[in-house]
Amino acid sequence: MEPVVVDVGSKLLKAGFAIPDQAPTMIIPTQMKRVLDDGLTDNSSLEEIIVDPVVRGFVKDWDAMEDLLHHVLYTGLGWEIGNEGQILLTDPLSTPKAVREHMVQMMFETFNVSGFYSSEQAVLSLYAIGRISGCTVDIGHGKIDIAPVCEGAVQHIASKRFEIGGMELTKLLGQQLQSSNPHVNLSTSDVEKLKEQYACCAEDQAAFEENVLSCQTEQHILPDGQVITIGRERYIVGEALFQPSILGLEEHGIVEQLVRSISSVSSENHRQLLENTVLCGGTSLMIGFEERFQKESNLCSSSIRPSLVKAPEYMPENMTKNSAWMGGAILAKVVFPQNQHVTKADYDETGPSIVHRKCF
Ligand SMILES: Nc1ncnc2c1ncn2[C@@H]1O[C@H](COP(=O)(O)OP(=O)(O)OP(=O)(O)O)[C@@H](O)[C@H]1O
Ligand SMILES: [Mg+2]
Repeated sequence: MEPVVVDVGSKLLKAGFAIPDQAPTMIIPTQMKRVLDDGLTDNSSLEEIIVDPVVRGFVKDWDAMEDLLHHVLYTGLGWEIGNEGQILLTDPLSTPKAVREHMVQMMFETFNVSGFYSSEQAVLSLYAIGRISGCTVDIGHGKIDIAPVCEGAVQHIASKRFEIGGMELTKLLGQQLQSSNPHVNLSTSDVEKLKEQYACCAEDQAAFEENVLSCQTEQHILPDGQVITIGRERYIVGEALFQPSILGLEEHGIVEQLVRSISSVSSENHRQLLENTVLCGGTSLMIGFEERFQKESNLCSSSIRPSLVKAPEYMPENMTKNSAWMGGAILAKVVFPQNQHVTKADYDETGPSIVHRKCF
């Protein structure tokens, strides 16, 4: 049985057996509903509570996480109780030591896995495109992580985490659409779908300002039949990544942040990092994002400018959003056969802290 690779994001969980040239077989929402049973038989009295096991990349509800992984591993991927396989998990940037230890403990003690490995998402996203050095810009749902990686090692001092992501863009679009369509009743999932379909980045700031003044509007029919008009809002959402002041944040735009992050790494690595900039995470799929990112990069005043690495042609389409999972599948094909993983004997001998010694 191939090892299983699981990348649990703030919005989407990607899981599947380690077959690197395929997309993960399961891509499901991470969010769960907890049903509070009040003991009465009438279903209508059951109260549902929305639970996010992972918030901005980190596990916040371990019970929910256990239930979610139980569903993924046994129901989704077909593991059998008593005959569990090996697992590789992806760690977001700067995962606290205690979280890594809790995870390895849960894997051996609750799931009885036969082998464990975990590795950082930034390193895995580089492996996915066949590199060990470069700088990843991961724009997911709950965070933006900028992580320079040299020879497979994340440069933590130079890395940056911003607590904005697709979630904030969905909220922004919702507010914008609500004020231009006051009579339409919009749910968050409606807005999220509209964002994924319509949100886009203008070519540059001047084009953005022009679009805001005079862009064409389109009508969209929501699943319940309501009609919504969408126009300038789509550009405002994309622009927020380049001008965070739109979200009320006093931060530099994403390209400036990348350059600043790399400039704090030793200077002999600057060229290699900047010239191997890799975009990943679902939000980076926004229409026009890559082009705007490259255009702003070309305007940088530094002597070496960021330049984006394209995904190799042999990779499945749109692999950007699954690159951490794919890198995990590549790594799993190496660490488990070569016995570099944490075994049950290692775990029993050393305890959860073994994860820091064996997984890096
Ligand atoms: N075409 C698109 N345009 C804009 N946003 C998109 C598009 N496709 C997906 N997204 C957004 O990408 C986000 C999901 O991306 P991803 O799967 O990388 O996040 P995650 O791994 O769950 O979260 P995180 O890494 O932040 O913990 C969602 O906010 C989704 O709405
Ligand atoms: Mg992610």
